[in-house]
Amino acid sequence: MHIIFYPNIFKSRGQCVALRLLTNAKLATLRENEVPYGLIEQGALVTHRDRIAFAGPEAELPEVFRSLPPEDQCSRLITPGLIDCHTHIIYGGNRSREFEMRLQGATYEEVALAGGGILSTVAATRRAEVDSLVAQALPRVDALIAEGVTTLEIKSGYGLDRETELNMLRAARQITAERQVRVKTSFLGAHAIPPEYKGNAEAYLSEVCLPTLEAAHQEDLVNAVDGFCEKIAFSRAQMRRVFEKAMQLGLPVKLHAEQLSNIGGAALAASYKALSVDHLEFLDKTGVRAMAEHGTVAVLLPGAYYTLCETQKPPMDLLRHFNVPIALATDCNPGSSPLTSLLLTMNMGCTLFRMTPEEALKGVTSHAGKALGLSETGTLEAGKRADLAIWNVDHPSELSYRIGFNSLHKRIFGGQ
Ligand code: NIG
Ligand code: FE
Repeated sequence: MHIIFYPNIFKSRGQCVALRLLTNAKLATLRENEVPYGLIEQGALVTHRDRIAFAGPEAELPEVFRSLPPEDQCSRLITPGLIDCHTHIIYGGNRSREFEMRLQGATYEEVALAGGGILSTVAATRRAEVDSLVAQALPRVDALIAEGVTTLEIKSGYGLDRETELNMLRAARQITAERQVRVKTSFLGAHAIPPEYKGNAEAYLSEVCLPTLEAAHQEDLVNAVDGFCEKIAFSRAQMRRVFEKAMQLGLPVKLHAEQLSNIGGAALAASYKALSVDHLEFLDKTGVRAMAEHGTVAVLLPGAYYTLCETQKPPMDLLRHFNVPIALATDCNPGSSPLTSLLLTMNMGCTLFRMTPEEALKGVTSHAGKALGLSETGTLEAGKRADLAIWNVDHPSELSYRIGFNSLHKRIFGGQ
């Protein structure tokens, strides 16, 4: 078993500093190419400060760690801390009225074309100050944290003007000052065309979106660049302009694509070595092949599929056949997915998309980390961050199986 050994953490009397030993635990390590879930039935895990120093069978615990005071986990399951790799969790107001309208017969596209949809959240978000955006988001962030989330991605995209886009990203960064959680930000200026640029997407890109991306990057507010490639949003050619700017700035890209129709966004994003392409209900073989070729993760968002009562499912068999890593996320947003439970998302991935519970767990750990370009979290391995979730379950499949039940016992963030 691979161990990171830190000789300098031992005092002369053999006493250990900043080390924790968790024993009598099941470990879902999620290491690749091992037994299902990378499961270790009788495992031990050692943390050193914010890192994992050992994760393996108890019987193989290195001698140097054996004198540590054990914290008995009573056979509980330890997984990597969960990662929600696609959220729009910062926004003003909510859209419960549109939920009602859709139930009275309007479609998502009709609501959007009538000036509702994303644009009604844009209006509410523009009215809010940074502090208010943070305050509105915190209860939602807390709901994720309560289920073992240790990393989340947050997008802009409800500002669509310079100041509000920047404020959304500042609010996203502010979350880490308020809570013990890691945040990765995505600039989503190409989410919708704001009312003041109606019918003039190109001018919006030139005058607002691209300059704002540059300004946000200068303020170190951007970890990745995202967009919405769809008939009701931006074309491939328009997304290409955004991606070219991202390349100039040295930022990785992602894309909302093939959600409502297939206009080839996935293949375009993959050609820019996108970290992920997200939604994908209408993805075809060409898109899947391109994603496989460029190592792009497929992020599936069953909360949006469910909320919009879609019937077209993502092409699971093709994704599996071409070995495209599949992640799952809440897509937490006020319109198409007012969802703040990653456990329910796992259940939906299994029930609605026929994912296996193992795929679902990888989808919110190792593959979700990959979708964010993170290599230091998402698996239980020596050297990785000590972001852990400890569960009152007998087997990892239970995490996907239950509906509306939180079996989290404890969450450890950076060894704390
Ligand atoms: O990921 N698809 C585009 N964007 C969001 C929806 C945002 C909204 O409706 O407010 C999504 O589903
Ligand atoms: Fe989204």
